[in-house]
Amino acid sequence: MGKFPKTLLAGSALAVAAGLGFVWSGVYAIGADEPHWRPVEAFISFFRDRAIAHHATGITVPANLDDPAVISMGAEHYNAMCTGCHLSPLQQDSEIRPGLYPQPPKLAEHGMHDPAEAFWVIKHGIKLTAMPAWGPTHDDEEIWAMVAFLRKLPTLDASAYRRLTASPGEEGDHDAGASGQADGHAHTH
Ligand code: HEC
Repeated sequence: MGKFPKTLLAGSALAVAAGLGFVWSGVYAIGADEPHWRPVEAFISFFRDRAIAHHATGITVPANLDDPAVISMGAEHYNAMCTGCHLSPLQQDSEIRPGLYPQPPKLAEHGMHDPAEAFWVIKHGIKLTAMPAWGPTHDDEEIWAMVAFLRKLPTLDASAYRRLTASPGEEGDHDAGASGQADGHAHTH
C-alpha cells in the first residue's frame, strides 16, 4: 500500500471528528422556523424519496379507486383529518401549516404522483416530519379511499369540494350517499 490510502484514512477520520464536533457543539439550527442548510435538505429529500419508493414497491393498487362511493368515503376522512396541514380548496392557509417544517404540500394543488407511494405514506407516516401514520387507526380500505380522493382533489373547485365532503350528518361514515348523488339538499349555487 502506498501513501494514498493512509492520507485518505487520516482525512476521513478528521472529517468524522469535525462532524461529531459540530454535532456536539449544538450550534445547528434545529428550530422549525429556519430551513435546513441546502445540502442537508437535499440529502434528506433524497433519503426520504428513496425510502418511500423502496417501501411502496410491491403494493398493489386496487381497481376501484374511481368508484364514487370510495371517493366519497375518502373525502370525509380527508376533510376531517388532513386539511389543517394539507389545506383544501376552501382555505388559503391554516394556523398550523406556516409553522411546520418541512411544510406539508398543498395536496389540492399538487395532487399526488403515485397511488402506491401515497398509500404507504398515509399508512406509515414520515419520521421527523409532521406527517402522522394513520395505519394504527385506519384500515387499508379507508386509506385507499383517501388515496382515491386525493387523485380527484386537484380537479375540485370550492363548491365541488364542499359537495363531496358534505356528510349527511353524523360521523357514521361509509354507507350514506354512496354514489355521491344523495346530496340534493340545501346548497344554493
Ligand atoms: C400535522 C400535519 C399533517 C397532517 C394532519 C397530515 N399530514 Fe400529510 N404530510 C405532512 C407533512 C409535513 C408532509 C411532508 C413530509 C415531507 O416533506 O417529508 C406530508 C406528506 C404527505 C403526503 C406525501 C405527499 C408527497 O407528495 O410527497 C401525503 C400523500 C399525505 N401527507 C397525505 C395525508 C393525508 C391523506 C392526511 C390525512 C389523513 C394527512 N396527510 C395528514 C403533514 C401532515
